[in-house]
Amino acid sequence: MAAKKKIAVIHGPNLNLLGLRETSIYGQETLDEINATLKRYADSKNVELSVFQSNSEGEILDELHKANEEAFGVVINPAAYSHTSVAIRDAISAIVPPVVEVHLSNIYSREEFRQKSLTASVCAGVVTGFGSYSYILGIKALIN
Ligand code: DQA
Repeated sequence: MAAKKKIAVIHGPNLNLLGLRETSIYGQETLDEINATLKRYADSKNVELSVFQSNSEGEILDELHKANEEAFGVVINPAAYSHTSVAIRDAISAIVPPVVEVHLSNIYSREEFRQKSLTASVCAGVVTGFGSYSYILGIKALIN
């Protein structure tokens, strides 16, 4: 079988509102702008990128299952589901490609309920607090 060349980027709930939502925490960039930067970075590394956003837990699960078939790695910002979703944690555990969890904000410097990620400990690693550059660092880690 040919080696997989794709990284799947998965954005969780409310990230479609980036650029409008709590800009003092999440910045001014829209999701489309972030995705365009990620695509440019991936192109420069000869890596294919799929980008996906959903506000629904089930759709995120389906995308993780799809990534299991198609991708050699996953970068996911599970957003609020990081703190609540056993189902997403189980899907990350179930799939073979390594998963990097990313957050725009530093979840450890925020409210107590955000400081616990149910998904982080089943990921290969976590990048938190570097704004949209967290995604680039996640992609970089998977390529390396
Ligand atoms: C977030 C942090 C989460 O606590 C929050 O629910 C989000 C975004 C981040 O990228 O900083 O929606 O994942």
